[in-house]
Amino acid sequence: MESKGKATLTYGDGKSIEFPVFGGSVGPDVIDIRTLYGKTGMFTYDPGFLSTASCQSKITYIDGDKGELLYRGYPIEQLAANCDFLETCHLLLYGELPNKAQNADFVDRVTHHTMVSEQMQFFLRGFRRDAHPMAVLTGLVGAMSAFYHDSLDINNPQDRDISALRLIAKMPTLVAMSYKYSLGQPYIYPRNDLSYTANFMRMMFATPCEEYKPNEVLVRALDRIFILHADHEQNASTSTVRLCGSSGTNPFAAIAAGVACLWGPAHGGANEACLNMLQDIQAQGGVAKLGEFVAKVKDPNSGVRLMGFGHRVYKNYDPRAKLMRETCYEVLNALGLENDPLFKLSMALEKVALEDDYFVKRKLYPNVDYYSGIVQKALGIPVSMFTGIFSLARTVGWIAQWQEMISDPEYKIGRPRQLFNGSTTRQVKPIDKR
Ligand code: CMC
Repeated sequence: MESKGKATLTYGDGKSIEFPVFGGSVGPDVIDIRTLYGKTGMFTYDPGFLSTASCQSKITYIDGDKGELLYRGYPIEQLAANCDFLETCHLLLYGELPNKAQNADFVDRVTHHTMVSEQMQFFLRGFRRDAHPMAVLTGLVGAMSAFYHDSLDINNPQDRDISALRLIAKMPTLVAMSYKYSLGQPYIYPRNDLSYTANFMRMMFATPCEEYKPNEVLVRALDRIFILHADHEQNASTSTVRLCGSSGTNPFAAIAAGVACLWGPAHGGANEACLNMLQDIQAQGGVAKLGEFVAKVKDPNSGVRLMGFGHRVYKNYDPRAKLMRETCYEVLNALGLENDPLFKLSMALEKVALEDDYFVKRKLYPNVDYYSGIVQKALGIPVSMFTGIFSLARTVGWIAQWQEMISDPEYKIGRPRQLFNGSTTRQVKPIDKR
């Protein structure tokens, strides 16, 4: 990296120090403060990483003010219109969209890793049947390192590639297994003559006594959901994967950490929370109750948020939410559900919020999770599986970011510092004197 200027910090009684400033290909410049502690004995303080770039990356770029999302330079709108999920995976992993031959080869390599070890079933049986699928999935993904340890040398690029393919290929199988287990139905083995997404839908919805014929409009809609969720630069779960992987642990363990982080309602759990919110409002009277609900959201003491709204980076309409709303129309039309009351309610709520000063002032717009729950529900996916679907789609982003970190010559174990304001040294007293 070549420095494009300097930033000067003045501190103490008139001391000053200079730091190099680096520019990316697009987006804000960064001040390289790696020498700050060595030179001044001070740390920076930035809880929540509001102003801190934790790494360099070439994978995904977001312009939150413009509402722009690029994977390897390609606008998400173009990828969603012209590519399928596996082409997008190739792009994120290897940096380029595949040509026909590369695509055929990649699809073949992914497809031939879709089965999981039969012993995974015994592991799965250890879970309570009513366990949340995300609890099960965190365990299953972590357990992959116990099953696929022939490719765990993180310094070997071929091992890293096989682990990446295994994760992308086996996630649909594991997500579908966790669903079937919750229902008490037999697992459905993958079928390699189907597309990635059609195969997943079949594993979710077929039974041994009844074949499932994937509906192309619905397959395309789910494939689009996968594309829209595939990566989102240094969000909480991706940063978790990077931090966990920075210790040199194996990729399955690092991705399991990402799945665990994604589960939270402020992150991947938001689509589940959003659908629950809409269902609650509907149960309490629907559109007529929107004013009351929005008033609660605006009350700082209520602890109620409008789920599916707001984003740390987007201060404009999340471009994924626009595409998701289109997909929502397509799916509901294909299923003859144009008058779906939850969809109507969500559009009415969106309108109320976008015209309300509270949301306007804070630049709170719908994010990807606002409509994705309605689409998934229409596809027949139960609410408790929503975050599992998000994990499936985000796996490629996590593994691409992990690969990028391991191959980065500047890669170091992640180790944040702290501002300590607890007790200073004190002496332990015997228990009868405390
Ligand atoms: N409803 C009501 N008020 C909100 C909301 C919301 N959804 N989001 C932010 N605010 C308010 C917040 O109360 C604060 O107001 P004030 O300045 O008066 O204290 C202000 O807006 C700034 O909020 P913040 O919590 O400081 O913002 P953040 O960047 O830390 O949080 C967020 C981002 C996504 C966690 C938050 O907007 C949120 O909780 N949204 C709802 C959950 C959600 O939809 N999450 C999915 C994110 S997109 C999918 C993904 O990438 O995982």
